[in-house]
Amino acid sequence: MNIQRVKDSPFTPVDKAPEPELGCDAIPASRYTSRDYMEKEWENMWTKVWLLGGFLADIPDPGDYICTEIGWESILLVRDSDGDVRAFYNVCQHRGNQLRVPGIGHAESFKCAYHHWEWTIDGEVKNIPDPDDFPQGLPCDKVQLKEMPCDTWGGMIWFSMNEDVEPLADYLGVVPSHLDAYHFEKMVCVNDATVEWHCNWKSSIDAFNETYHVQGIHPQLMWCLDDVDVQTDLYDKHSRYLVPFGAISPRINLEDPKQIPGPMQDMMVAAGMDPATYEGDVTTVRRDIQKHRRAQGNSIGFDISDMNDDQLTDDYHYFIFPNLTLNTHCDSLMLFRQRPHETDPDKMYFDIWNFAMPKEGEDVPERANHRELVHGKDSLGLVVDQDAFNLPRVQRGMHSRGFEKGLWIPFQERRIRHFHKTLEDYVGE
Ligand code: FES
Ligand SMILES: [Fe+2]
Repeated sequence: MNIQRVKDSPFTPVDKAPEPELGCDAIPASRYTSRDYMEKEWENMWTKVWLLGGFLADIPDPGDYICTEIGWESILLVRDSDGDVRAFYNVCQHRGNQLRVPGIGHAESFKCAYHHWEWTIDGEVKNIPDPDDFPQGLPCDKVQLKEMPCDTWGGMIWFSMNEDVEPLADYLGVVPSHLDAYHFEKMVCVNDATVEWHCNWKSSIDAFNETYHVQGIHPQLMWCLDDVDVQTDLYDKHSRYLVPFGAISPRINLEDPKQIPGPMQDMMVAAGMDPATYEGDVTTVRRDIQKHRRAQGNSIGFDISDMNDDQLTDDYHYFIFPNLTLNTHCDSLMLFRQRPHETDPDKMYFDIWNFAMPKEGEDVPERANHRELVHGKDSLGLVVDQDAFNLPRVQRGMHSRGFEKGLWIPFQERRIRHFHKTLEDYVGE
């Protein structure tokens, strides 16, 4: 099936980016298994880049905070007394106790549970018991919570452990100008979960940055999206691919195009169409869903005026280096964040958030509570479960003496190569 793409777009550019020269060396599997490489990543990459910490909607008022973790570090993202959002290391300056546990909360002040040193929401000392008992002199004048760069974009709060980091807008490059059309800041979080996976964090990044594996791991998706005719664009640090939804995979040999597959019918229903009376065939569904949504305009309950027609069906799938994947749709956003384990290159934490665009005139959904899930016991939905099932086996294979040559990366998986190139720029070979 030939996918037709829009040529013009009011907001999100659709032009194909020039292909950078990335070479074709095999990527060594040791990057996924070595503690030495893991430490280099921490020193030279994780502590140098901008990272997603949480969402503005979760901390509207002074004293609201999010406590988020990366590696050994724990970070407080706080709405301060002026209403600004700031990031502090979550560590009491007395003897290093952590002030808060991970999650979202509200604090009038941050009082350490250990000896009651108390900090304002602006990171200053509020009270220290027995302040005259310090031969070094009054600590009140000498200590404050250690702060780090913090900024916001797209309703998201970003922090960096690098005091000299470039401005967030420079770091994100083209991404905000591409994605502001979706108005993430108006969406509501309807799913929020974390699960530990037994694989390196990069195995998980790789698994979401190519569609080559759809035929193997997600065969059911071949009945509602085109996993082959995917436009891939590599930018400075980040990348995207544009995956046509409401189409079938060219790997499928469909005998009767009039038989609309069930998953495609589900998409039609979600767009307000009736598959029973539909007169087109599988080759026209994608365009007709787009036309149907466009004809309804903003009466579908939210603003689609900044989006091109393809955005009304397709997944404009962005990756922000090093660890954030955005599956964007006109009415929803699915975010994946991979975090490394503190000490073990064979483990990682996978965070998933689903956001929905509230519809005008309908009740705004409640912000979902965070859930800590267990791999193999709790479900993250069929598609992610399929990836999750596979990844520990990939990780074991990375350790095999029979896997000497490293990763073979075809052209269609070049987002993986691009990701590794960016990683190398930070970490070295
Ligand atoms: S470690 Fe916080 S008060 Fe002692
Ligand atoms: Fe997958």
